[in-house]
Amino acid sequence: MHKKIILTGDRPTGKLHIGHYIGSLRNRVAMQNSGDYETFIMIADQQALTDNARDPEKIRNSLFQVALDYLSVGIDPAKSTVFVQSQIPALNELTMHYLNLVTVSRLQRNPTVKAEIQQKNFEQSIPAGFLIYPVSQAADITAFKATTVPVGDDQEPMLEQTREIVRTFNNVYAKDVLVEPEGVFPPKGEGRLPGLDGNAKMSKSLGNAIYLSDDAETLEKKVMSMYTDPLHIKVTDPGHIEGNTVFTYLDAFDDDQAKVAELKAQYQAGGLGDVKIKRYLNDVLQAKFAPIRQRRAEFEKNPEAVYKMLEEGSQKANAVAEQTLKEVRDAMGINYFN
Ligand code: TRP
Repeated sequence: MHKKIILTGDRPTGKLHIGHYIGSLRNRVAMQNSGDYETFIMIADQQALTDNARDPEKIRNSLFQVALDYLSVGIDPAKSTVFVQSQIPALNELTMHYLNLVTVSRLQRNPTVKAEIQQKNFEQSIPAGFLIYPVSQAADITAFKATTVPVGDDQEPMLEQTREIVRTFNNVYAKDVLVEPEGVFPPKGEGRLPGLDGNAKMSKSLGNAIYLSDDAETLEKKVMSMYTDPLHIKVTDPGHIEGNTVFTYLDAFDDDQAKVAELKAQYQAGGLGDVKIKRYLNDVLQAKFAPIRQRRAEFEKNPEAVYKMLEEGSQKANAVAEQTLKEVRDAMGINYFN
């Protein structure tokens, strides 16, 4: 039996935060270590440029930060091929061929793209490259014949669109050149970590994130500032745990869930103060992220080695993508000279 193939990635628009860790990174590391997959992890710098074209320096810096984030959480270049999207020319050619199989109105209906257009105030002036990024993402996935794409929930529309492109391509040009991928999403309710302020989404632009690279002091300060239960005024008041960010984080990060259940009961009954529970969460998070922080510091001392890892990964990825491109060209009959 063929090994299953994973392709996944992130846009390098900033450092990764502990929401990324819960939503995808920890799962990728587990899948990588299972030995059941050949794993490709891509830093999607070109996709990041579709809405940051005028700020290439940000993308360049973030690329290095994301590489450090990967290495620090345990993505292992000996087990996963980590590569840079812009260094794989075949992805661009595949995108061009697929674009002919997709309509503009279909692109405009993609719910994730639609939401992003609103968020970024692109209504009157969508960069063309931004509108078509789902097609480029289909190229990313199909170039590696990925069977399995572990991503956050917001990426479901990209997978749907990729499958459509695969079916159309195989239908029009040749059966079984491209592979239909399957998305792997976090279990319901476990995939999204709220921000420090209780907002449903942790994000850099909302200023409510804890970064994997935050030092111990910053982490503690952030935890002590977290949103809890606004109705829990005196320690003796009964508190609410629903929508209480401190408890959501404990659910996500504390390995001792029996203890969490006990603290919840105590908090609901009254008598457990916010400062105390935050101190407890701080201990849990410090224990979880200290080793990650230490590994990051080690890699950070040696940027050449980090870039070398990316370069080698990109070379390996390039060979795979070139092979798929050759099959695509053959299927389309644009192979005039061989
Ligand atoms: N769109 C993804 C994100 O924003 C990043 C990405 C680009 C990706 N190409 C991909 C994810 C291919 C999975 C597969 O997170």
